[in-house]
Amino acid sequence: MKITVLTLFPEMYEGFLNTSIIKRIIDKKLAEIKVVDIRDYSQDKHRHVDDTPYGGGAGMLMKVDVVHRALLDNISNDYTYTVLTSPKARPLKQVDFERLSKLDELVIICGHYEGIDYRIERYIDEKVSIGDYILTGGELPSMVMIDGILRLLEEGISSDSLKEESFNEGLLEYPQYTRPVEYNGDVVPEVLQNGNHELIRRYNLKMSLKETLLNRPDLLDERDFTEEERQLLAEIVSEMSD
Ligand SMILES: C[S@@+](CC[C@H](N)C(=O)[O-])C[C@H]1O[C@@H](n2cnc3c(N)ncnc32)[C@H](O)[C@@H]1O
Repeated sequence: MKITVLTLFPEMYEGFLNTSIIKRIIDKKLAEIKVVDIRDYSQDKHRHVDDTPYGGGAGMLMKVDVVHRALLDNISNDYTYTVLTSPKARPLKQVDFERLSKLDELVIICGHYEGIDYRIERYIDEKVSIGDYILTGGELPSMVMIDGILRLLEEGISSDSLKEESFNEGLLEYPQYTRPVEYNGDVVPEVLQNGNHELIRRYNLKMSLKETLLNRPDLLDERDFTEEERQLLAEIVSEMSD
């Protein structure tokens, strides 16, 4: 998969792309990441990329012609998928990363300042937000996307660990522990120490349901519960009311 990022701040990606799992995935050639400086597409002798908004208002807007030139120069075929980072979209979910990770080519446009001239929206396939808040630029959202997508790429991370993560089954991940077995009086649950796989599976499912109920009950609203999950939920509710 190839991901191209169009940004005014390419230097922000150096540490990110050269660290830990992301670096390993790139080194294994499972993904190619290209970071493009939008300023290179300015035709102004001072390399200006922004201007004041029509109708007044605070701040500066990135110019549509400059960003569009950068975009056109980095679309290699009809299948290149283009996204614009923007707070004006439905926030990304895990299923979106799964969908995007199946693409061959993705171009991400990072806005900055007050954003980009609205007319850029005509040239993109989708707007993506990472949450209902405003950041200074699309660079961190693009890194969130790259991180979320790259780790799903085959062999980038073991499929067992992906299967067990929060959101994969519509539930949050169960609590996990490592050594020491006891810390400041907090002991790792007995069942996790005894090696009985069936008991551990059931316990972890129960803890997943409990974590979700306590932290994100909205995720349970549309869940089609199995009989086992119903029983476990009943146990959780009764234990919590004791
Ligand atoms: C300061 S923001 C512009 C906000 C814009 N004036 C508004 O009110 O919608 C600058 C750029 O940061 C990026 N950005 C900010 N918050 C974001 C978010 N939650 N998700 C995705 N991109 C975001 C976008 O690319 C945006 O164009």
